[in-house]
Amino acid sequence: MTLLKITQIGHPVLREVAEAVDDVADPDIQMLMGDMAATMADAPGIGLAAPQVYRSIRVIVFSVPAERLGPDDHPGPEGITALANPSFEPLDDEMVTGVEGCLSIPQLRGLVPRHRRIVYRGIAPDGSLVEERAEGIVARVLQHEIDHLDGVLFLDRMCDLKALAIDEELHHLLKTETSEDPPQ
Ligand code: NI
Repeated sequence: MTLLKITQIGHPVLREVAEAVDDVADPDIQMLMGDMAATMADAPGIGLAAPQVYRSIRVIVFSVPAERLGPDDHPGPEGITALANPSFEPLDDEMVTGVEGCLSIPQLRGLVPRHRRIVYRGIAPDGSLVEERAEGIVARVLQHEIDHLDGVLFLDRMCDLKALAIDEELHHLLKTETSEDPPQ
């Protein structure tokens, strides 16, 4: 596996709508999924989308360790999950505000509202169809990564840019928040 260079904010590929995957068995897609998993683990991060490695293709990887789950959160799948053509639907109207970072936006973190509970779907590397429920941070990561495939960054989802901070000043924002998540 190869560690890939991570696209930084300002590069236009981060603002494109990515192309759907036609054939997940394509060796190029298989290699991309493996390289993205290795790149995310190395960063380290808990999610990565293909535009973040200069590929405008609808592929994401994510991995949320158990210790990152909130007390009431439904756990995500174990290990690293790779999905082609992922999508999601909210399960209800509840929104929750939490801290997000992004490997393409170094040092900055902000408070972002996301759906608390979703159902997500996608195609696994073996070609099988995935349909799972996600909640809390796992749901947040999925929404963040799927946004990347539509050229949307977490900054665009913030209600108030005053809720943006560099890592060293994040504690000021967290006076009323409880979670701190690694970059996605
Ligand atoms: Ni990101």
